[in-house]
Amino acid sequence: LAQTVLKMGDNQAKTNVAGQTDDVFAKLVADKSGGRIKIEVYHNAQLGEETEMIQQIQYGSLDLAQVSLSPLVEFEGSLNVLQMPYLYRNADHFWKVMSGTIGDQFLASMSGSGIVGLAWVDGGARSFYTIKKPIKQIGDLKGLKIRVQQSSLMLGMVKAMGAVPVALPYADVYSALQSGVIDGAENNYPSYVDSSHYEVAKNYTDDHHTMVPDLIIMSAKKLASLPKADQDLIRECAKLAQKDHHVRWQEASAKAEKTARDAGSSIIVLDDITDFQKAVQPLYDDPSIGGAYKPWVEKIRAVK
Ligand code: GCU
Repeated sequence: LAQTVLKMGDNQAKTNVAGQTDDVFAKLVADKSGGRIKIEVYHNAQLGEETEMIQQIQYGSLDLAQVSLSPLVEFEGSLNVLQMPYLYRNADHFWKVMSGTIGDQFLASMSGSGIVGLAWVDGGARSFYTIKKPIKQIGDLKGLKIRVQQSSLMLGMVKAMGAVPVALPYADVYSALQSGVIDGAENNYPSYVDSSHYEVAKNYTDDHHTMVPDLIIMSAKKLASLPKADQDLIRECAKLAQKDHHVRWQEASAKAEKTARDAGSSIIVLDDITDFQKAVQPLYDDPSIGGAYKPWVEKIRAVK
């Protein structure tokens, strides 16, 4: 039987909950195709960081990747609204949107960029963490250099909150924290721990400013070159991996939070995030950002 070998990259450790999802996906595809389709997964940004992988997917020199929505927005602008700060009420609301018809519509709308979106990978909420000054109120962010993902909306968000954004690929953040080039960063608990950022930046403020999912993406050229039945099989397995990941996510996140606490991180729980929400309101009022996405913002907020 002819074998199709596909290459897939991510920037997570093999032990990270999202990294594991790529292995789950590869195994599903292998099993369901009776070993005919083989996905070779390369973790830890071995094939490049996210922006490089997205470019390779576009050119067709890489078949599959798992990347964050934030850098993907620079290639597929339609996804930007999904990472607006404080858009979702809570994790359940977020996941209802992503796993429902709205999420499906956004995956399907990724056309023309050469990139096919196959599935969402839950990333929970992202929150700030700092080396020295703990963030207890919005004013504490003033002047701090905070790493953000390579995304103009995230640069704008951190600026609106009074801090100085520094865009860096994920793999460069640890040394930037260690050398003091930045004062802090922001991420979900599993990433905070698996990247070892928690060893250096010990103040974690649970402000949940964004819920940014990852996506399993594929080169449109490559997908179209496969027989229809194989395309369907790959799409189905990605959706199964999406579900499997969501089931594992909550536990992985709680476990990472505990690891951070046990290692001496202090977790700052904010009773009131109104000032944080107020600070980002200009993004919603900006006609080219929130203004342009208003119908979607309303549709998303209406999901109960
Ligand atoms: C999370 C996300 C990654 C992303 C990273 C980042 O870990 O899952 O895809 O690269 O955040 O902050 O860059």
